Amino acid sequence: MSRRPIVAGNWKMNLDRAKARELTAAVAARVGEAGTTELVLCPPAVYLEAVGTTLGAGSPVALGAQNMHDKASGAFTGEVAPAMLVDLGCRYCILGHSERRTLFGETDAVVNAKTKAALAAGLIPIVCVGETLEEREAGRTAAVVTEQVQGSLAGLAPAEIEKVVVAYEPVWAIGTGKVATPQQAQEVHALVRGLLAGLASAAVAAKVRIQYGGSVKPDNAADLAVQPDIDGALVGGASLKADDFLGIARAFGA
Ligand code: PGA
Repeated sequence: MSRRPIVAGNWKMNLDRAKARELTAAVAARVGEAGTTELVLCPPAVYLEAVGTTLGAGSPVALGAQNMHDKASGAFTGEVAPAMLVDLGCRYCILGHSERRTLFGETDAVVNAKTKAALAAGLIPIVCVGETLEEREAGRTAAVVTEQVQGSLAGLAPAEIEKVVVAYEPVWAIGTGKVATPQQAQEVHALVRGLLAGLASAAVAAKVRIQYGGSVKPDNAADLAVQPDIDGALVGGASLKADDFLGIARAFGA
């Protein structure tokens, strides 16, 4: 089963409009360096339009959002609806990132509602899961990831699960420079694929792309990329530099 690698840049709350355009143009100009890897740029919501316009219609680089609300419209001050993201040309939306879960109180039920809403709107959700250091040290990694995957994807039809991208991001590896070893990551990725098989089927699970995230850099990406169940990366810090982002993409798409 060959899955097309996917590397997404989560810019978080960084850059300004001019720098967002500059980085987008640099990535777009060098997309060939990514080989077979699909590239996704996830700027802050207010810069989605600028990034989308810089990419232009039909760009091989996809646009993604970092978050959305699960409702279609209404009195939700400060929120962004799924169809608004589609309107701006988004193909992807990151959901349930650990920063959303820990700083903004997003539960599995919230992530589940958003995942369903994203799919209904025609967006591909990048659903994030991952354990904290405390949970890993208590030997609870598998239990935590199982609960998050099953809770976040509850009630989805197999055809919907097939479209989803899952990002395994151990919280202790995010922004810390402490990348999981390829073996640690592969072990959890294999667990996630098994869970997807249970929720849908082995055939569906074999098609789902599972990204690793947490301090991915050009110099550690190759060791992650050779693992059988690691299909790409969700990149924070290193996605803010075109050289680093493309170096990571190349490692997966070589
Ligand atoms: P990092 O962030 O690459 O800076 O560790 C990853 C993420 O939060 O998606």
